[in-house]
Amino acid sequence: MLFDSHSHMYSVKFDNDREEVFKRIKEAGVEYVLNAGADLETSMRAIECAHKYDMFYASVGCHPHDVKDLDEETLLLFKGLAKKPKVCAIGEIGLDYYYDHSPRDLQQHWFRRQIQLAHEVSMPIIIHDRDANDDTLKILKEEKAFELGVLMHCFSGSAELARQYIHLGAKISIAGPVTFKNAKKIIEVVETVPIEHLLVETDAPYLTPEPFRGKRNESAYVRYTAEKVAEIKKIPFEETARITCANAKSFFKIK
Ligand code: NI
Repeated sequence: MLFDSHSHMYSVKFDNDREEVFKRIKEAGVEYVLNAGADLETSMRAIECAHKYDMFYASVGCHPHDVKDLDEETLLLFKGLAKKPKVCAIGEIGLDYYYDHSPRDLQQHWFRRQIQLAHEVSMPIIIHDRDANDDTLKILKEEKAFELGVLMHCFSGSAELARQYIHLGAKISIAGPVTFKNAKKIIEVVETVPIEHLLVETDAPYLTPEPFRGKRNESAYVRYTAEKVAEIKKIPFEETARITCANAKSFFKIK
């Protein structure tokens, strides 16, 4: 039993073969998939998917790339979406100083406002942090985000940073890059973090794990990431799948 803790399976990239792709998810032993919203439109698509298919759950929020277009009125719409059935987190939200698609002061402002929204609706948050480790941690602390539950999606920081996060009560989600031949830092993270604090994800259609690296990613491939985690932690695959699935269910409060 597997839980893909972060995916975008509502993407237009699956429009031509969605039903086949969704069938493969089940066949791969993946029981649950969290579809993360990245703006208003994709948040609504994630909810639609969750209402149509049993295995899907949704999160709603605005990705740092797109906060340049965000305003208070739209934030209220996100609040309304957060109350829909099967929506179990606010995200993905955070900071991205690698691409800087939105100005950094706006990224920080809307990151704070969306954490405040999560407080209003009492929901955990899913964090995107790319090349912004210091500011992300600072804002999370200042906004008392760890009271809500914090999931570090596609974690790419050091083992030391991962240690700090789990000490604060956050969970770490491991994505496809752990399977890459040149992976080193993320393998150290998996070695360091106890399995009780680890989740696995695809971030499909992006970040495809080996042996499919370079192709379109899909939730079924979370299996390869979980297999790699099992190998690094020297824990049988079935147990790794069971524990990471239980961790995700508990984080998202899914019964
Ligand atoms: Ni994502």
